[in-house]
Amino acid sequence: MNKIVLMAALSAALVGGASAALAGSPDKGKQTFMQKGCWQCHGLEGQGGSAGPRLANTQLPEEALIAFVHQTNGAMPPFSTKLVSDAELSDVYAYLQSRPKPADPKTIPLLSP
Ligand code: HEC
Repeated sequence: MNKIVLMAALSAALVGGASAALAGSPDKGKQTFMQKGCWQCHGLEGQGGSAGPRLANTQLPEEALIAFVHQTNGAMPPFSTKLVSDAELSDVYAYLQSRPKPADPKTIPLLSP
């Protein structure tokens, strides 16, 4: 009986470990965001700038962000999979989602005179 409980705990730990390994790394994502020049248009924290919209805490699903970066043909130049891989973009996604959320406007006195 104890053996079964142990097996269940072990396999749960293994499954948990595997999914954690699949998720992107915010630290590596920050490096990619800097090295590939995303920051130049989107801001150092992905906060948005004059040349590109805010990306921090994006509502886009991860797959949509990856597809957009490879395929866009609008105002943003596309980055092929040779320039930035899917795995690197997973890390970028993790970095962007790790940015602090903006303050609630109601908590900013200047905005409620
Ligand atoms: C030359 C400036 C520039 C660079 C460099 C750049 N972007 Fe963009 N990006 C833009 C602009 C402009 C848009 C808005 C384009 C549009 O809506 O078609 C955009 C849009 C996006 C969007 C869609 C945002 C949304 O909410 O719809 C994503 C995701 C994105 N960029 C990610 C990246 C990543 C990741 C990199 C680095 C690999 C990068 N961008 C580099 C200018 C840039």
